[in-house]
Parts: sequence; structure tokens; C-alpha cells
Amino acid sequence: MDIPRLRTKRLELLAPSICGLDAYQKFYSDPNASLSYGGPISNSQIWSRLKSDLGSWHLSGFGVWMIRVKDSRSIVGTCGFWQGLDWPRELTWWLLPTARGRGYAYEASIAAISHAYDNYLWHKVETYMNDDNKSAKRLVERLGGTRTRRARFPDGEFRDMYHLPRPPLS
Ligand SMILES: CC(C)(COP(=O)(O)OP(=O)(O)OC[C@H]1O[C@@H](n2cnc3c(N)ncnc32)[C@H](O)[C@@H]1OP(=O)(O)O)[C@@H](O)C(=O)NCCC(=O)NCCS
Repeated sequence: MDIPRLRTKRLELLAPSICGLDAYQKFYSDPNASLSYGGPISNSQIWSRLKSDLGSWHLSGFGVWMIRVKDSRSIVGTCGFWQGLDWPRELTWWLLPTARGRGYAYEASIAAISHAYDNYLWHKVETYMNDDNKSAKRLVERLGGTRTRRARFPDGEFRDMYHLPRPPLS
């Protein structure tokens, strides 16, 4: 499939590729940075994670993009859609610690959510996070997300589900 390339003012959203391996290794080998993504994980698991992110596009027709900063041309994280078996589909993100606090996840999210509503014609875009993930909650609030329900997940944990509205046209 042709994985779309999205552009925002400061960012490009690209298909997962070998160009992102260094960023994946930095993120997933850092225990603090990758805690909510199940890190730290070994190099071979990191390689599998990158392949899985690419494979999602081909299996499911959606996935996460790598976030590249236009100015520096560096890959700083990922943003897009993820769905585990029997899990709800979610908007998800991770950024390298050095790329946080600059609005990159917000900017990438606007592009990803707009793409989902306008190109995939999805009726809803949702997300969720662990209760203690304050940064993700703040991001969802900035995106206008509203809590819709508390759900039990396949891992036995309960989490709040959020609806993300279509961003206003810029
Ligand atoms: C969740 C995560 C992606 C959020 O990253 P983030 O950088 O805080 O989010 P944003 O891109 O929205 O940036 C917002 C911050 O940038 C600041 N900012 C600076 N310049 C900005 C700009 N031009 N536009 C918008 N915000 C800007 C905002 O004030 C805000 O700072 P604050 O949080 O101190 O108030 C990040 O914390 C992360 O990678 N966490 C680990 C992975 C994870 O938990 N993912 C979620 C799983 S559910």
C-alpha cells in the first residue's frame, strides 16, 4: 500500500522505515522515556517494534508515522493509529525526551486526526492512556478530547476513553 506522507508547518509525517531505527533505539532503550510503551526493550525487540509499526499499515490500512522535523531533518518520534488484537483503535504518540515541550505531538496529532476524518472517513477517533500519564492527558485536553467512558482493557486494566473531535480547518 502507499503510506501517505503528511506535512505540517514544522513537521513531516513519514512511513516507518530504517531511517527511524536510531530514534527507535534511543526511545526504547531509555527506561523513563519508554515506560508507557513497555520499555526498555532489547535491540532485537526494538527492531521488531519498527517492523510491526510498518506492518500495521499493510495489515490494517493504518498505522503510525515517524515524525521528522523539517529544519533539522531528524526523526523525533511517532504519531498515528495503533490497534492491538481485541484492543480499541487509538491515536498514539511518543517523542524523544529532547523533542518534548515544543508542541510537536500536538501538531502531528492535528494532521493525523484530520487525515482520519477526511481521508479514511472514520466516524470517530479515540484515544486512551494509563491514569498516571499526565503528559498524554494534557495533550488530549489540548486537542479538545472529551472523556466518553471508562473501559476494561484486555490486559485487565481500566482506562478512560476519549473522543477526539475533527480539528478546525486551519
Ligand atoms: C505524550 C507526549 C508525546 C507529549 O509530548 P509533549 O511534548 O508534552 O506534547 P506536545 O507536543 O503537545 O507539546 C506541548 C508542550 O509544548 C509546549 N510548546 C512549546 N512550543 C509549542 C508550540 N509551538 N505549540 C504548542 N505547544 C508548544 C506547550 O506549552 C506544552 O508544554 P507543557 O506540557 O509544559 O504545558 C510525550 O510526553 C511522550 O512521548 N511521552 C512518552 C510516550 C507516551 O506516554 N505516549 C502516550 C501513550 S498513551
